[in-house]
Amino acid sequence: MLEEKARVVARSRRLRRSEQIRALVRETSLDPSKFVAPVFVTEGSGIVEPIESMPGINRYAVDRLANYVARLRDAGVGSVLLFGITGSKDEAGSQAYSPTGIVPRAVAEIKGRFPDEVVMADVCLCEYTSHGHCGVLAAGSVDNDRTLPLLSRAAVEYAKAGADVVAPSAMMDGQVGAIRIALDSEGLRDTVIMGYSAKYASSFYGPFRDAAGSSPSFGDRRGYQMDPPNSREAMRELSNDAQEGADILMVKPALAYLDVLSKARSRFNLPIAAYNVSGEYAMVKAAAAQGWIDERRATLEVLTSIKRAGADIIITYSAEQAANWLAE
Ligand code: PBG
Repeated sequence: MLEEKARVVARSRRLRRSEQIRALVRETSLDPSKFVAPVFVTEGSGIVEPIESMPGINRYAVDRLANYVARLRDAGVGSVLLFGITGSKDEAGSQAYSPTGIVPRAVAEIKGRFPDEVVMADVCLCEYTSHGHCGVLAAGSVDNDRTLPLLSRAAVEYAKAGADVVAPSAMMDGQVGAIRIALDSEGLRDTVIMGYSAKYASSFYGPFRDAAGSSPSFGDRRGYQMDPPNSREAMRELSNDAQEGADILMVKPALAYLDVLSKARSRFNLPIAAYNVSGEYAMVKAAAAQGWIDERRATLEVLTSIKRAGADIIITYSAEQAANWLAE
């Protein structure tokens, strides 16, 4: 009878029948050499201090960095992105660009031990200013053009200490161009700039601000970070950074902005980085701790989605753990 004949034309399930077949047709795979692990470096010695809102992540004193970086290298993680934490804050964030500041010391320590480690340094003032904003203040708001030379000085100090990549995250207009000129004028022509090009004023930075003690003491960052509903504007930001000389463009956060990431991938030929931020990490950890989701599967699914959307490079607090899972 006619009804008994199979009428299913497209049998997609053929390619899902076994793990071997699924592996053969899998479109996206994760590669730990494209992971970047954010690392919090703190003043003092002998310190490895857990961050409550980011289980598994610690603040490290400079003398404790080598062990941690060695572990990341063993896991195959491609790079580290350094964030400095200091108690000595002032209006102008001067510890950010001090040649003896926490980040130059951390860079020198890591490059001294592991010369081939790719070391990235975040460039911003918010961890160093007494008011917690990403630039210097004038008349109660962040002064773009007075901030640029300070970011440039910080980038130059980090590059002089040996950083391979500087990553301006302050969302000041013209920051990439100003930093490129400053680096070049110091002969630091080979230092890579990774622009936090499309960085949104996101609620998902909460745990990071606990970790780095960088919450603004008044107001918020909406006057300089991007408005979450906008994606055409993100393309303008990416294009500005590309024109100013950025070598790598970033979209941040990742998960709530996968559409932006995908558009970025299709419009630009520079490498695209995505920052899987602290709040995204904390959500998975918290749900897993409650037994509500499978941490390993959820983490790898999140990272795969970021890759599938178009990220070449993934900055993630899950870097070490995910790299180890992938190697099992
Ligand atoms: C510095 C900076 C922040 C993050 C990266 N660089 C904090 C912020 O903008 O408030 C957030 C990273 C994260 O949440 O994981 N400006």
